[in-house]
Amino acid sequence: MIPKSFRSATTALVGTLSLAAAGHAFAQAYPDRPVTLVVPFAAGGPTDVVARMMSVPMAKSLGQQVVVENTVGAGGTIAATRVARAKPDGYTIFIHHMGMSTAPALYRKLNFDPLNDYEYVGQVVDVPMTLLARKDFPANTLPELLAYIKANKDKVTLANAGLGAVSHLCGLLFQSAIGVDMTTVPYKGTGPAMTDLLGGQVDLLCDQTTQTVPLIKEGRVKVFGVTVSKRLAALPNVPTLDEQGMKGFEVKVWHGMYAPKGTPAPVLEKINAALRAAMEDPTVKQRMVDLSADIVPPEKMTAAGLKTFLESEIAKWGPVIKKAGVFAD
Ligand code: MLT
Repeated sequence: MIPKSFRSATTALVGTLSLAAAGHAFAQAYPDRPVTLVVPFAAGGPTDVVARMMSVPMAKSLGQQVVVENTVGAGGTIAATRVARAKPDGYTIFIHHMGMSTAPALYRKLNFDPLNDYEYVGQVVDVPMTLLARKDFPANTLPELLAYIKANKDKVTLANAGLGAVSHLCGLLFQSAIGVDMTTVPYKGTGPAMTDLLGGQVDLLCDQTTQTVPLIKEGRVKVFGVTVSKRLAALPNVPTLDEQGMKGFEVKVWHGMYAPKGTPAPVLEKINAALRAAMEDPTVKQRMVDLSADIVPPEKMTAAGLKTFLESEIAKWGPVIKKAGVFAD
């Protein structure tokens, strides 16, 4: 007679093997329907621009449609929560920027944990920002802007995409650098914030070049500087904030791609391959150059490359935000 302990061990082994076989078959078949790429801000804004640009070659690589879904609100944290709770089957993936690293310090209560609730696909692209004003704003240069803000601090409005957005972070650093608190106007993304800047309903906005380069070139907004230490090839005549005396003013917006925790490794590999294929696509490459966005090198386009960087960014921004004393409940 076969001992009972042997029978249960055999049953457990068969169970494990059939689960592994099912997982393998699932990964082989993946994807057999459209994949949802969640964007945490409004359509038409810079994150959406990057996501929609990538979705076409990603779809080609995956052999299935990649559908962009804008889940907006609370500076990107609603989308991050949605993805953390989604089924880990590879059909929900997520692109988010450095807001993933500032949210833990900005929000007293967060419904997701950037370091434990996700699988990491890889870093994507680094995007500089520009400090803008509506076209008919009275100031034309940075010194004029600073003088105007100081004289009219109760009047000047600064748009952003909510606590956790990079437009918010950039605005915060700018206000701290000039020692003035302005009235801020939150939107669900800098897409709608830009619509209001173009319409003259708000005065100022700090936003990524993936949205702003064409508008600056067309003269539809006023630009006062770029937020990185070197001038941009796409905007050679626009000085950096640093060279105009705001020493050390540096915000470059990194982006990462995530999937819910528990997404199978072979599925993640296919998503990573699709990400790489998208970033090798000649049309995407050229558009990124035109918008002064830097596609990250291959070693950063990995799970480890993203996770390690995210950890270092959480450690970097936590103290800065705590010092600034901004929190959401
Ligand atoms: C957007 O896509 O609307 C922006 O990335 C929001 C932001 O400023 O973070």
